[in-house]
Order: sequence, then C-alpha cells, then structure tokens
Amino acid sequence: MSGIPVIIDCDPGHDDVFALWLAAGHPGVELQAVTTVGGNVPLRHTARNARIALTVAGIQDVPVAAGADRPLVRELQTAEWIHGENGLGGPSLPEPTVPLDPRTATELMVDVLQASSDPVTIIATGPITNVAILLRDRPEQARRIREIVWMGGSTERGNVTPYAEFNAWVDPEALRLVLDSGVPFTMVGLNVTHTALVTAAVRERLAAIGTATAGFGDELLEFFCRTNDEVFGLPDGPLHDPVAVAAVADPSLVTRRRTRIDVELTGTETAGATSTDLDGVLGREPNAWAAMTLDVERFWSAMGDAIGRLR
Ligand code: RIB
Ligand code: CA
Repeated sequence: MSGIPVIIDCDPGHDDVFALWLAAGHPGVELQAVTTVGGNVPLRHTARNARIALTVAGIQDVPVAAGADRPLVRELQTAEWIHGENGLGGPSLPEPTVPLDPRTATELMVDVLQASSDPVTIIATGPITNVAILLRDRPEQARRIREIVWMGGSTERGNVTPYAEFNAWVDPEALRLVLDSGVPFTMVGLNVTHTALVTAAVRERLAAIGTATAGFGDELLEFFCRTNDEVFGLPDGPLHDPVAVAAVADPSLVTRRRTRIDVELTGTETAGATSTDLDGVLGREPNAWAAMTLDVERFWSAMGDAIGRLR
C-alpha cells in the first residue's frame, strides 16, 4: 500500500531538511513535490537548499519549485541567527543535481493536486504564504486537499517574540487566510515540537546509521544545536519540522485536539501569536486541530529508519 500523497512546502533550514528526509523515507507518506518559500533565509537560498537536501539523500524524482519570496503584505524577516547565512550552516554544501522546476509553487501544487487520484496532504514547515496564495488564487483546488498540517504557532509561548512563533510571525496574514479557508488544518506548534530534542544520544543514534545522508545530517545537527544553545540556551536543539511530517506519516505518533485557533495581526507586542482557545472560553466554532503530544522515542526511531532508507 503506497503512502498518503504529500506536498512539502518549506524554508530549509536545518529542521526542514529532516522533514524532507522523513517524508522521503517513511512508508506512510509519498512525497510528490516540494515547494519553497522565503523564511529562515531568503528564497534564493531556501529553493537551493531544498534541492541540496534531496541531492544529498539521492532523491532525484521529486520536483522542487520556488514560491513566494516574501509574505503576503509584510516585509520578509529571516532567521540567519539559527540557520546561518545560507540557511544550512555547518556542512560544505554540494552542488544540487536536482533541478529547479520552472513552475511556480502554485503551478506545481495545482498540477500535483489535479493529477492525484486521492486527496493530497500539504505539509508546510515555514511561513504559510505559498499555501495561502494557492487557496486565494485557486480556490477550486481546496476540495483536492486532504488536510493542511503546518509546523508553526504554539498553544503556549513563542520563540521569536514572547507570544509568537517564527513561521506565524513572518506571515500572520497568510495564516489567517488559511484558517478561514475551511480546509482541514492542524497546527503542530512549539508546545509539541519542543519535545523533539536533539540530545547527544539522538545525534549518536542518527550518526551511527553511517550513510552519506546521516553524515551530512550530523554536521547540520552540530550547527543547529550550537546556535540553539547560543540563542535560546537549548543545547539539545528542538527539531521542529519533521514532527509535522510524523503526524501525517504515522498519526499514532502525535495526539491532536480539536480547538479554535485565531492569529493576532495587530498586537504591538503579540503580532503573530496563535490564540488557541483550548477550553472554548470564547465560544467560537472550532476551526482546527492542535498537536498536543509526541511519542518521542518512536519519533526518533521513525526518523532513523527513514534516513536509513536514503542514500
Ligand atoms: O519556529 C520554528 C520554525 O521556524 C521551523 O519551521 C524553523 O525551520 C523555522 O522555519
Ligand atoms: Ca521551517
């Protein structure tokens, strides 16, 4: 039985790379396309980095397209302080052998949605601008989307401001549009991704796989853990993005809770905050699921098994 067809929209970024590898190597999903967005670093880097991630892993048959180079209405804010100037600080980067698809992200997404005999899951691991543009410009495609699962937001605190997580903070207008679309939506927020910690034992376990992909990944994790320690005092860097893939590939890994999520657009201190009404105190209609817990041990096993299936 083939896996759930998925499109990954990402802003590589160290953790985005592991999301791509988990999607490529896990039997529960079938990676059909990759689209890229400006986020951690500018689009010219994220598009190239997605191609590099697939090249390193020996994945040559998945199209990669570039999408939005900036949020819907705001200026792009980037995160070189975690990911480095080129977005993949640490290893020396090979020339990508995976070409950049000439289609825009929207064009590639539409082609995949229309060609699939089953509804497609969109897993977004950056600012959700490309998904918002798809739903804004091609609303007739919404019925072909099984669900949108997004790494971003938080049911608790933020990471780029006290109450806003980076992906939500970069483009809150895009998140508002996606939340209002009615497409089934799951937020995989910091509240759960902060349990996916790259401990020394996790690094040893993944490095021991011994493949080219595992070696490249270990150099990424060395850099990622160092910058997370410097910036957040988190030497065991939280590997956010693959948790969103895990939620799709094996739903038993992540618990979800039906809730109401709204995003702050105008707060002087809280713009980008994902107001998650877990107790329904506002009495608004639930519009999403929020990921709440991760089976950490089985998550890392799935990550290791997936990497072991790559080059
Ligand atoms: O806040 C964490 C998220 O922002 C992750 O997706 C990371 O890659 C950055 O995009
Ligand atoms: Ca990301």
